[in-house]
Amino acid sequence: MSGSNERWLVMNPKEMSILFSEQSIRERVKALAREMNEHFRGRKPVFVGVLKGSFIFLGDLVRELDLDLEVDFVALSSYGAATETSGEVRLEADLRGSIGGRDVIVVEDIVDTGLTLSYLVRLLRDRHPSSLSVVCLLDKPERRQVKFEPDYRGFIIPDLFVVGYGLDCSERYRHLRDIRIFEPL
Ligand code: PRP
Repeated sequence: MSGSNERWLVMNPKEMSILFSEQSIRERVKALAREMNEHFRGRKPVFVGVLKGSFIFLGDLVRELDLDLEVDFVALSSYGAATETSGEVRLEADLRGSIGGRDVIVVEDIVDTGLTLSYLVRLLRDRHPSSLSVVCLLDKPERRQVKFEPDYRGFIIPDLFVVGYGLDCSERYRHLRDIRIFEPL
């Protein structure tokens, strides 16, 4: 990476404004878990995390759930510049387990254009789960390119580039405890 790009990407997280604090995220995740505990009571759902962005949300969500659940993962990539998605989605790593006849809940950090989840939902439906739902922490409806509505969502946000709590900019900032607004210089 060239020196100027490197400068553009490296920002001190303390200089970024907080969009959602650790505490407000925790409260929202607990509220989502309450809804899901109610809805899936007595079932044995499989929570499918979409790598990499969902890893922290998934970890926090499942620990709030009082269900006989399983966890699996898929890795998907969309290609483009650091702050844009290009529209091309690829399956990089598949589920370990079978989901035929199971209640499947896809866990995603953010829905932006909707292309990633539209692709994944089509792929998983072909495997005949008993039900298929999507929970996303953040939803950016202004950016939608295809019609897509998550079943559960944490927060609706405007068209801002955000990092933290799993979300990155060129692999940085995923570990931040809160969600911050990334504004390149
Ligand atoms: C992000 C995010 C979603 C996707 C949403 O993933 O985690 O999977 O983009 O965008 P879309 O609605 O426009 O398709 P990214 O490709 O950045 O990979 P990552 O999860 O590894 O960060």
